[in-house]
Amino acid sequence: MIIAVDGPTASGKGTISKRLAKHFALPFLDTGLLYRAVGWTLQQQGGDPDNPADALAACNFESSLLDDPALRSEDIGGLASRVSVHPPVRRALDKRQKDFAGQPGGAVLDGRDIGTVIAPDADVKLFVTASSEARAVRRFEEMKRRGQQVDFEDILADILQRDERDQNRATAPLKPAADAVLLDTTNLTIDAAIQQAIALVNAKTSGRRDKDPA
Ligand code: DC
Repeated sequence: MIIAVDGPTASGKGTISKRLAKHFALPFLDTGLLYRAVGWTLQQQGGDPDNPADALAACNFESSLLDDPALRSEDIGGLASRVSVHPPVRRALDKRQKDFAGQPGGAVLDGRDIGTVIAPDADVKLFVTASSEARAVRRFEEMKRRGQQVDFEDILADILQRDERDQNRATAPLKPAADAVLLDTTNLTIDAAIQQAIALVNAKTSGRRDKDPA
């Protein structure tokens, strides 16, 4: 069973995807990390994120980089969004994602174009969203918990800018697949959102794959 989870930044899609993978005993790939690895490598190489050749040159990263917590910063998220607009970068990361999705038994993948491009035949497609204000509040609280100095307006502006870029790029923009189920987490706790996501997967698959009924 392939579960494709797409959505904007801070929508809760990462947490929901991880929990779905655990619940249904499936391997999980956070595809945003691949773009983050390109952004990080490009930064190390002193490249220009808006230059497709520089961005492509940063696609040859070692797999071990994907475990580096440095990829999780806001700056690297912004760079990831910028390098991800270049079609050669998307092509360079395409096979790895499709191979992961196609492994025997299936997988859960989260990103922006999983239901539309990477796994258009996925058994279940979720599009996880939330208002930009709710997402900015979550990001703000998370950064404060980590002891970072943060300004709410800066975070909201960054989220809006990232949405704009991810939704309006020419290749594989962020958008729900025609057959995706929308999950709006604006007014849900993370646990409620996870329970709804599990229920949606079970509804789509008639509970055939539920290994751990709650
Ligand atoms: O999910 P994330 O915040 O880690 O993703 C970082 C950026 O990577 C995101 O703003 C756009 C890009 N991305 C993409 O274009 N396609 C994906 N499947 C995943 C991420």
